[in-house]
Amino acid sequence: MELRKGIMATQESRKVTTQRLLEMKARGEPIACLTAYDYLTASILDAAGIDLVLVGDSAGNVFAGYDTTIPMTVEQMLYHTQVVARGVKRALVVADLPFMSYQVSEEEALRNAGRFVKEALAEAVKLEGGEYICPTIRRIVNAGIPVMGHLGLTPQSIHKFGTYKARGATPEEAERILADAKALEHAGVFAIVLEKIPAELARRVTESLSIPTIGIGAGPACDGQVLVTPDMLGLFTKFRPRFVRRYADLGAQMAEAFAKYRADVKARTFPSEEESY
Ligand code: KIV
Repeated sequence: MELRKGIMATQESRKVTTQRLLEMKARGEPIACLTAYDYLTASILDAAGIDLVLVGDSAGNVFAGYDTTIPMTVEQMLYHTQVVARGVKRALVVADLPFMSYQVSEEEALRNAGRFVKEALAEAVKLEGGEYICPTIRRIVNAGIPVMGHLGLTPQSIHKFGTYKARGATPEEAERILADAKALEHAGVFAIVLEKIPAELARRVTESLSIPTIGIGAGPACDGQVLVTPDMLGLFTKFRPRFVRRYADLGAQMAEAFAKYRADVKARTFPSEEESY
């Protein structure tokens, strides 16, 4: 038992790589992923044993206050990735390639992906799209940069969809997502995010691939789960999709702390003698 515990501790503390994620799928160990945009959050997530930290372009919504992820730029995402990577020792750090940083040409996509690995110390990049983006994925993977795919509700295409409702609800769209997932695996991605698709479709996709699927609003059959951290902490409360489980109510706690501090300053009870020099 002691030896087993030792082995488990070593596995738990080992650096997460794309290879380890494949091994986790093979042995049926769920992969826990969350997003981060800053050093502090990233170091807390990492210390908590989160396997994959995604520097998501959801930063556009929950950090920058935009309505969509679309305005995020390469420079902004590079900065978020740099500060997150500095806070992470064990987890795999994956950076989102922002909208229009990989769609114009394969060369531009490769150059931008390279910047995330070289300048921001990301260990992989994520991009959205199915079969049509596979030549770009091959180009990036061939250069030695691991790529994560993203299917289902792909927020960078929100203006094309016109709605945030679940994808893959019709048989045609479900077959398209299944075919896209197989094409992505064939192109060399190491994992695929499945966002807001029916649980049964996510199960079919997961069972048809040897690489892990990471679900967000895609049911329990995925090989791993991801949530947007400020959503699950109750910090971002503008809207709450039904797949978000709230693990804390930090927004309310912060508001209470700020109000208490304000009251203390107004009442001149802060700082006290002990807090002064
Ligand atoms: O940008 C992001 O945070 C994401 C997750 C929703 C998977 O892509």
